[in-house]
Amino acid sequence: MLPTHVTLVEVGPRDGLQNEAQPIAAADKVELVRRLQAAGCRSIEVTSFVSPKWVPQLADAAEVLSAVLAAPQRAAGVRYSVLTPNLKGLEAALANPAARPDEVVVFGAASEAFSRRNINCGIDESVERFRPVVAAAHEAGLRVRAAISCALGCPYQGEVTPDEVEHVVRRMKDIGVDHCGIADTIGVGTPRRVQAAMERALRHFPLAEVSGHFHDTYGQALANIHACLQMGIHVFDASVAGLGGCPYARGATGNVATEDVVFMLRGMDIDTGIDLDALVDAGAFVCGVLGRPPASRAGRALLARRGAQVAGATT
Ligand code: HMG
Ligand code: MG
Repeated sequence: MLPTHVTLVEVGPRDGLQNEAQPIAAADKVELVRRLQAAGCRSIEVTSFVSPKWVPQLADAAEVLSAVLAAPQRAAGVRYSVLTPNLKGLEAALANPAARPDEVVVFGAASEAFSRRNINCGIDESVERFRPVVAAAHEAGLRVRAAISCALGCPYQGEVTPDEVEHVVRRMKDIGVDHCGIADTIGVGTPRRVQAAMERALRHFPLAEVSGHFHDTYGQALANIHACLQMGIHVFDASVAGLGGCPYARGATGNVATEDVVFMLRGMDIDTGIDLDALVDAGAFVCGVLGRPPASRAGRALLARRGAQVAGATT
């Protein structure tokens, strides 16, 4: 039995934009979030409270979060999340009492080498750094999600085994995170290997608290999502227009495009609550800001069809 409803966590404003070299105005980031929530996205990763030396593009995290969560933009029923790798990040995320996120994300890795490149410490040390973040976030009434990068392969280490995935999953469970996201940072996972990694996460977290985060570098993301659906997994990260990449994983291209996932799920009668046309507009908006076409295949096809219809109507 496949799920009848899927929750998509829209990571475009964070994962999508973090890797962009060109400056992007805070107002454009805020407008992107506004359009995503208007399209029906009910879980949105807004930004990261990380070191601006490590991720300069998100140095405006406080400004963006405050604008997104200020009345009247904050939308009822939307879960807003931000990345917080340490207490300094959490404190900054909570600094404006009028603009508190609903959820924070701690991000570890199944590969020791990637952990060191991405957050400057090894796996076990990273989890110990997350422990007080999880406790303080819970104290503040927030949910905590864990992202486990390089669960299907690592740009530095190569192969990553299900045992390595389970090691960090178990550690994340020990420190009390509410949710465990299994991430294929460099997009090398294929369906059976993804199922093996997911099966390890499901040994420690309930079905509703395990999600998939697939970069589409090798074109495997939709197949991997389908493999997860067959296991009953029904929460996935996706990025509008297929934006994304991790600055510390060379060659990592965009996340699976939200438009492509919504198109596939709609065709399978699986509800996401997202209006595909409005989502395509949000993708076209951010791609206009970035000056390039959407990477989403469904987005490009739907924009082309609209263009053809307009041309047909005027000839
Ligand atoms: P560090 O250098 O070891 O930290 O970085 P530190 O505690 O020694 O501090 C060094 C400097 O950073 C100090 O400033 C701190 O104040 C500052 P200085 O005294 O030199 O001026 N600092 C901070 N500033 C702002 N906010 C903070 C913060 N913490 C320290 N929270 C750290 C450790 C984790 C901070 C750093 O490595 C970092 O920021 N890494 C972020 C890497 C990142 O964001 N990567 C992309 C996100 S993960 C991802 O994309 C994968 C995912 O999508 C899933 C997938 O696809 O795999 C989630
Ligand atoms: Mg990612």
